[in-house]
Amino acid sequence: MNMKRVFLFVSAGLMITAVLSTIPIFRQTSPLSAGHSGMYLQSAIASEKTGKEVLSGEQIYARNCEVCHSMRPPAKTAPPIVGLASRFRKVHGNKEDAVTAMVSFMKKPDAANTALGPRAIKRFGLMPAMSMPDEELEKVSGWLWDQYDPNFDTRGNCR
Ligand code: HEC
Repeated sequence: MNMKRVFLFVSAGLMITAVLSTIPIFRQTSPLSAGHSGMYLQSAIASEKTGKEVLSGEQIYARNCEVCHSMRPPAKTAPPIVGLASRFRKVHGNKEDAVTAMVSFMKKPDAANTALGPRAIKRFGLMPAMSMPDEELEKVSGWLWDQYDPNFDTRGNCR
Protein backbone atom coordinates (compact mmCIF):
# COMPACT_ATOMS: atom_id res chain seq x y z
CA MET A 1 0.00 0.00 0.00
CA ASN A 2 1.49 3.33 -0.89
CA MET A 3 1.02 6.51 1.16
CA LYS A 4 -1.59 7.97 -1.15
CA ARG A 5 -3.83 4.96 -0.71
CA VAL A 6 -3.44 5.02 3.07
CA PHE A 7 -4.37 8.70 3.07
CA LEU A 8 -7.51 8.07 0.97
CA PHE A 9 -8.53 5.18 3.19
CA VAL A 10 -8.19 7.15 6.40
CA SER A 11 -9.97 10.23 5.10
CA ALA A 12 -12.86 8.13 3.75
CA GLY A 13 -13.17 6.59 7.22
CA LEU A 14 -13.20 9.98 8.88
CA MET A 15 -15.87 11.21 6.49
CA ILE A 16 -18.13 8.25 7.22
CA THR A 17 -17.72 8.79 10.95
CA ALA A 18 -18.51 12.47 10.54
CA VAL A 19 -21.68 11.73 8.57
CA LEU A 20 -22.87 9.01 10.94
CA SER A 21 -22.33 11.19 13.99
CA THR A 22 -24.97 13.61 12.68
CA ILE A 23 -27.57 10.83 12.85
CA PRO A 24 -28.88 10.69 16.46
CA ILE A 25 -29.07 6.92 16.70
CA PHE A 26 -25.32 6.59 16.08
CA ARG A 27 -24.44 9.39 18.40
CA GLN A 28 -25.46 7.66 21.63
CA THR A 29 -25.11 3.94 21.54
CA SER A 30 -25.38 3.15 25.25
CA PRO A 31 -28.72 3.61 27.06
CA LEU A 32 -26.73 4.90 30.02
CA SER A 33 -25.06 7.60 27.97
CA ALA A 34 -25.24 11.23 28.96
CA GLY A 35 -27.97 12.07 26.42
CA HIS A 36 -30.46 9.60 27.84
CA SER A 37 -29.85 10.24 31.51
CA GLY A 38 -30.30 13.90 30.64
CA MET A 39 -33.73 13.03 29.32
CA TYR A 40 -34.68 11.13 32.48
CA LEU A 41 -33.47 13.99 34.59
CA GLN A 42 -35.59 16.41 32.60
CA SER A 43 -38.79 14.41 33.08
CA ALA A 44 -38.03 14.00 36.78
CA ILE A 45 -37.64 17.75 37.05
CA ALA A 46 -40.91 18.27 35.13
CA SER A 47 -42.91 16.08 37.54
CA GLU A 48 -41.22 17.74 40.48
CA LYS A 49 -42.32 21.10 39.12
CA THR A 50 -46.00 20.13 38.90
CA GLY A 51 -45.54 18.47 42.31
CA LYS A 52 -47.94 15.59 41.83
CA GLU A 53 -48.43 12.31 40.07
CA VAL A 54 -51.70 11.70 38.28
CA LEU A 55 -53.46 8.90 40.15
CA SER A 56 -56.49 6.89 39.08
CA GLY A 57 -59.63 6.87 41.23
CA GLU A 58 -58.78 3.37 42.36
CA GLN A 59 -55.26 4.38 43.39
CA ILE A 60 -56.63 7.35 45.34
CA TYR A 61 -59.01 4.96 47.11
CA ALA A 62 -56.19 2.53 47.91
CA ARG A 63 -54.06 5.32 49.40
CA ASN A 64 -56.67 7.35 51.25
CA CYS A 65 -59.87 5.42 51.83
CA GLU A 66 -59.21 1.68 51.95
CA VAL A 67 -57.89 1.85 55.49
CA CYS A 68 -61.50 2.47 56.64
CA HIS A 69 -63.68 1.49 53.65
CA SER A 70 -63.54 -2.10 52.37
CA MET A 71 -64.93 -2.65 48.86
CA ARG A 72 -67.60 -5.06 50.10
CA PRO A 73 -68.80 -6.40 53.43
CA PRO A 74 -67.52 -7.19 55.95
CA ALA A 75 -67.12 -3.52 56.85
CA LYS A 76 -63.90 -2.26 58.43
CA THR A 77 -64.56 0.98 60.32
CA ALA A 78 -66.80 2.56 57.64
CA PRO A 79 -69.55 1.53 55.21
CA PRO A 80 -68.17 -0.55 52.28
CA ILE A 81 -67.79 1.18 48.89
CA VAL A 82 -70.41 -0.86 46.98
CA GLY A 83 -72.95 -0.02 49.68
CA LEU A 84 -72.11 3.68 49.39
CA ALA A 85 -72.43 3.49 45.58
CA SER A 86 -75.95 2.00 45.91
CA ARG A 87 -76.91 4.54 48.52
CA PHE A 88 -75.75 7.52 46.46
CA ARG A 89 -77.62 6.22 43.38
CA LYS A 90 -80.77 6.01 45.44
CA VAL A 91 -80.39 9.43 47.03
CA HIS A 92 -78.94 11.46 44.14
CA GLY A 93 -79.95 9.61 40.98
CA ASN A 94 -77.21 11.10 38.79
CA LYS A 95 -73.44 11.02 38.93
CA GLU A 96 -72.85 14.76 38.82
CA ASP A 97 -75.00 15.53 41.87
CA ALA A 98 -73.62 12.50 43.73
CA VAL A 99 -70.02 13.55 43.10
CA THR A 100 -70.76 17.13 44.21
CA ALA A 101 -72.35 15.82 47.41
CA MET A 102 -69.48 13.41 48.14
CA VAL A 103 -66.82 16.05 47.56
CA SER A 104 -68.46 18.60 49.85
CA PHE A 105 -69.08 15.95 52.51
CA MET A 106 -65.46 14.78 52.46
CA LYS A 107 -64.17 18.32 52.84
CA LYS A 108 -66.47 18.99 55.77
CA PRO A 109 -68.32 15.92 57.08
CA ASP A 110 -71.58 16.91 58.69
CA ALA A 111 -74.13 14.62 60.33
CA ALA A 112 -76.87 16.97 59.11
CA ASN A 113 -75.75 16.56 55.52
CA THR A 114 -75.30 12.82 55.11
CA ALA A 115 -76.61 10.62 52.32
CA LEU A 116 -76.60 7.74 54.79
CA GLY A 117 -79.19 7.29 57.46
CA PRO A 118 -78.50 8.34 61.06
CA ARG A 119 -77.92 4.68 61.86
CA ALA A 120 -74.71 4.58 59.81
CA ILE A 121 -73.24 7.53 61.67
CA LYS A 122 -74.34 6.03 64.96
CA ARG A 123 -72.66 2.76 64.08
CA PHE A 124 -69.44 4.06 62.52
CA GLY A 125 -69.10 7.61 63.85
CA LEU A 126 -68.61 10.63 61.55
CA MET A 127 -65.97 10.41 58.84
CA PRO A 128 -62.92 12.66 59.37
CA ALA A 129 -62.42 15.48 56.83
CA MET A 130 -60.14 14.62 53.91
CA SER A 131 -57.48 17.19 53.16
CA MET A 132 -56.79 16.35 49.53
CA PRO A 133 -56.78 18.39 46.30
CA ASP A 134 -60.28 18.94 44.82
CA GLU A 135 -59.34 17.06 41.63
CA GLU A 136 -58.50 13.96 43.65
CA LEU A 137 -61.71 14.19 45.68
CA GLU A 138 -63.69 14.50 42.45
CA LYS A 139 -61.87 11.64 40.80
CA VAL A 140 -62.27 9.24 43.71
CA SER A 141 -65.96 10.20 44.03
CA GLY A 142 -66.57 9.47 40.35
CA TRP A 143 -64.78 6.16 40.77
CA LEU A 144 -66.90 5.38 43.86
CA TRP A 145 -70.11 6.07 41.89
CA ASP A 146 -68.92 3.66 39.17
CA GLN A 147 -68.51 0.83 41.69
CA TYR A 148 -72.30 0.42 41.77
CA ASP A 149 -73.25 -3.23 41.63
CA PRO A 150 -76.94 -3.87 40.85
CA ASN A 151 -76.64 -7.32 42.45
CA PHE A 152 -75.53 -5.89 45.75
CA ASP A 153 -78.42 -5.58 48.17
CA THR A 154 -77.82 -2.86 50.75
CA ARG A 155 -81.18 -3.44 52.43
CA GLY A 156 -80.91 0.28 53.03
CA ASN A 157 -78.29 0.00 55.73
CA CYS A 158 -74.94 0.06 53.93
CA ARG A 159 -73.68 -3.07 55.57
C1 HEC B 1 -60.63 7.26 59.05
C2 HEC B 1 -61.62 6.48 58.37
C3 HEC B 1 -62.12 6.93 57.02
C4 HEC B 1 -61.38 7.26 55.90
C5 HEC B 1 -59.88 7.30 55.76
C6 HEC B 1 -62.33 7.57 54.86
N1 HEC B 1 -63.61 7.44 55.35
FE1 HEC B 1 -65.33 7.72 54.28
N2 HEC B 1 -66.42 7.36 55.94
C7 HEC B 1 -65.92 6.97 57.16
C8 HEC B 1 -67.02 6.72 58.08
C9 HEC B 1 -66.88 6.29 59.52
C10 HEC B 1 -68.20 6.98 57.36
C11 HEC B 1 -69.66 6.80 57.83
C12 HEC B 1 -70.16 7.96 58.63
C13 HEC B 1 -70.31 9.20 57.81
O1 HEC B 1 -71.03 9.20 56.79
O2 HEC B 1 -69.66 10.18 58.18
C14 HEC B 1 -67.79 7.40 56.03
C15 HEC B 1 -68.66 7.79 55.03
C16 HEC B 1 -68.30 8.06 53.73
C17 HEC B 1 -69.21 8.49 52.70
C18 HEC B 1 -70.70 8.75 52.88
C19 HEC B 1 -70.89 10.21 53.24
C20 HEC B 1 -72.26 10.54 53.73
O3 HEC B 1 -73.04 11.11 52.94
O4 HEC B 1 -72.54 10.28 54.91
C21 HEC B 1 -68.48 8.62 51.56
C22 HEC B 1 -68.98 9.03 50.18
C23 HEC B 1 -67.10 8.30 51.88
N3 HEC B 1 -67.02 7.99 53.22
C24 HEC B 1 -66.08 8.30 50.98
C25 HEC B 1 -64.75 8.21 51.37
C26 HEC B 1 -63.65 8.34 50.43
C27 HEC B 1 -63.80 8.49 48.94
C28 HEC B 1 -62.49 8.25 51.16
C29 HEC B 1 -61.09 8.42 50.69
C30 HEC B 1 -60.79 9.63 49.96
C31 HEC B 1 -62.87 8.06 52.54
N4 HEC B 1 -64.24 8.03 52.63
C32 HEC B 1 -61.97 7.93 53.58
C33 HEC B 1 -64.59 6.82 57.49
C34 HEC B 1 -63.51 7.06 56.65
